[in-house]
Amino acid sequence: MITGTSKGIGEGLALHYLGEGHSVYGISRSVNERLNDHDSFHFLAADLADFQGMKDKLPVFLRSVNQMELIVLNAGILSEIKDLKDTSIDEIKKVMDVNVWANKLLIDRCFDHLNRIKQVVAISSGAAVSGSRGWNAYSLSKAALNMLIELYSKEHPETHFCAMAPGIIDTSMQEYISGLPEEVDYPVVKKLKNLKGTPDMPKPAEVAARLADGFENARKYDSGKFLDIRKM
Ligand SMILES: NC(=O)c1ccc[n+]([C@@H]2O[C@H](COP(=O)([O-])OP(=O)(O)OC[C@H]3O[C@@H](n4cnc5c(N)ncnc54)[C@H](OP(=O)(O)O)[C@@H]3O)[C@@H](O)[C@H]2O)c1
Repeated sequence: MITGTSKGIGEGLALHYLGEGHSVYGISRSVNERLNDHDSFHFLAADLADFQGMKDKLPVFLRSVNQMELIVLNAGILSEIKDLKDTSIDEIKKVMDVNVWANKLLIDRCFDHLNRIKQVVAISSGAAVSGSRGWNAYSLSKAALNMLIELYSKEHPETHFCAMAPGIIDTSMQEYISGLPEEVDYPVVKKLKNLKGTPDMPKPAEVAARLADGFENARKYDSGKFLDIRKM
């Protein structure tokens, strides 16, 4: 199962696993026609931040599944790049809902419903630990996500958990950043703008296989850790 399959990294991973002959259960708000064409792709159109809706829909979506090889908690949103002092608590809550609490709900419901889950990978970010100015609610949410995964690894010792930074990948998230002005206060914006269109910012389809290998390799590390694919 992969969340956030309509585009970006989630789409790339879904196409990769379908190509390898796996069944993929994808969740996002919008439909991806390319994925829907595959017989082995099962799709739930849902807003992960609608917690009640997810509680009701997930058991129906997974009714014929009793075990999962891999759950990739990939769906995520970026917060506006600006200072924390200029950011309302409501703005932060919106990012936390998608990047953290939706994943808590998904983990809890999946462990209730399924007999066995071999591995859970949460897509985190270098921003979880870098503390770069402007990264705001996104950094807070990814740091919380890392701890969420560490805590769940203790509660479910039979499942391997990790939070993984996937590297810098050319998706709609980078589209937003590349459209920002180069503010001296936010040096990472300049760095990312310079990487856009270079081999150092590959497309999701180019990195999906490497990410899938990274998920396999992650199982060699202690469960619950934050791993950066660039350092594995
Ligand atoms: N791109 C990078 O360089 C980079 C670097 C580090 C970490 N990451 C992480 O990688 C993950 C994927 O990012 P991406 O770059 O592929 O972003 P993206 O292209 O913007 O894709 C985000 C995906 O998440 C889904 N999503 C967002 N909010 C949702 C919601 N409320 N309910 C259901 N689905 C939702 C979107 O689907 P819908 O809009 O259709 O719902 C979309 O499929 C994120 O967790 C991000 O933080 C990315």
